[in-house]
Amino acid sequence: MKSAIVLAAGKGTRMKSSINKVMHEVLGKPMIGHVISRLEKLNVDNIVVVVGHQSDQIETYLQQRVTYAMQQPQLGTGHAVMQAQELKNVGGQTLILYGDCPLVQIETMSKLFEVNNGKALTVLTAILEDPGQYGRIVRDELGNVVKIVEFKDCDEHQRKIKEINTGIYCVDNDLLFKHLDDISNDNVQNEYYITDLIEIFNHNGYDIQGLPVLDVNEVMGINDRIDLAKATAWLQNRINTEWMRNGVTFIDPKSTYIEEDVVIGEDTILYPNVYIQKGSVIGKSNTILPHTFIVSSIIGDFNTIDSSRITDSRIHDNVKIGPFAHLRNGTVVESKNRIGNFVEFKNSRIGFDSRCAHLTYIGDADIGSKVNLGCGVVTVNYDGKNKFKTIVKDGAFIGSNVNLIAPITIGKDAVVAAGTTANMDVEDGELAIGRARQENKVNYGFKYKNK
Ligand code: UD1
Ligand code: CA
Repeated sequence: MKSAIVLAAGKGTRMKSSINKVMHEVLGKPMIGHVISRLEKLNVDNIVVVVGHQSDQIETYLQQRVTYAMQQPQLGTGHAVMQAQELKNVGGQTLILYGDCPLVQIETMSKLFEVNNGKALTVLTAILEDPGQYGRIVRDELGNVVKIVEFKDCDEHQRKIKEINTGIYCVDNDLLFKHLDDISNDNVQNEYYITDLIEIFNHNGYDIQGLPVLDVNEVMGINDRIDLAKATAWLQNRINTEWMRNGVTFIDPKSTYIEEDVVIGEDTILYPNVYIQKGSVIGKSNTILPHTFIVSSIIGDFNTIDSSRITDSRIHDNVKIGPFAHLRNGTVVESKNRIGNFVEFKNSRIGFDSRCAHLTYIGDADIGSKVNLGCGVVTVNYDGKNKFKTIVKDGAFIGSNVNLIAPITIGKDAVVAAGTTANMDVEDGELAIGRARQENKVNYGFKYKNK
């Protein structure tokens, strides 16, 4: 049985924020979200989040993915763990982590479970050139971890120790709950320190070990916005490096922001200021030019996307999009399309090998294949109360500056003349023309100019 206790009851004053510290985002996901997603990927059986300050924000975000233990007031990390009583008697091993420490990788979590197997407690440590105010790991001559001393309780000699406590532990569950109540608050801060467990376990002759983390950045705790920016930069670099190893080109990795749950295919090229977010899946050999936002969308292969925003949409293959296109709300662009500048698609489909090259709004429409939508076509889909559907069948040609007042159907191979405001269906093969007839007045132009 694998369990986890995530401590997130603290206040986070240094964030200077009305938002709970652990709800601040690192690459589009709240810090606590990173911790919980990784525990979920590891198939941890029970996750208890210890909440206190602004607990409503955490519960609204995490919902039923975890169970909650309320810690009120906050009397220290040991006291926080004591609140997770529902894990008493579940057996197995329990990981203890912080909600404000979002970079701990799955490999590190799984290593802790692995090395603690058959042991009583493993503490994840880090060796720092500047150990700051962290708790110090005290080892004996043989290298065994004897105890952890909080910085405020350290003597001169202990302050010089460079191996610090990251605050992350893997503990045998039965022993944890057997000895939690042995922790007292007899220290400088009058808090219940979870770190006291090390000494208590040692007194009982249990097997304890310290596992130094490979990359100390992983255990970075976030206390202010400066830490938050550092954490974002670290995660960004890790994600981008991984994609480069997998065959994705980044013109400038530092200015390209790929979230963790995104997938990108080989030979795709990402230009600066590209953001790919919320589980988007990008295929092979795409060129994604600067200032493009792709959110919760699926992009096929061999597309070029320039300075555009694509949300909740699906693009097939060999499509050219932008510059400055906005595709949203369930839009589907089938292969070999051209969606040009200042074009917006909302909740619409456009079939194979069609064109919509300039200045167009298409909403709630089903557009067939080999359709040409001229410059400035507008689907008039909303009467102020309800939305209506536009259907344009295969091979139709819609001239420039046409309004299609929905509900309306334009038939196969039909033509709608430029400037038409169409409010009647057009049958297959018909030409619709609906505009005021032009009149030319001889010499009126000269008169006007000479006035
Ligand atoms: C703790 C460790 C210290 C370690 C450091 C690493 C103890 C006594 N000390 O110190 O050895 O080097 O972490 O960052 O454990 N929290 C609660 N309830 C509480 C107190 C804290 O939920 O009553 C949560 C906080 O929200 C935070 C985390 O626990 O996420 C750590 O608390 P913090 O007060 O920052 O611990 P440190 O004093 O830094
Ligand atoms: Ca801290």
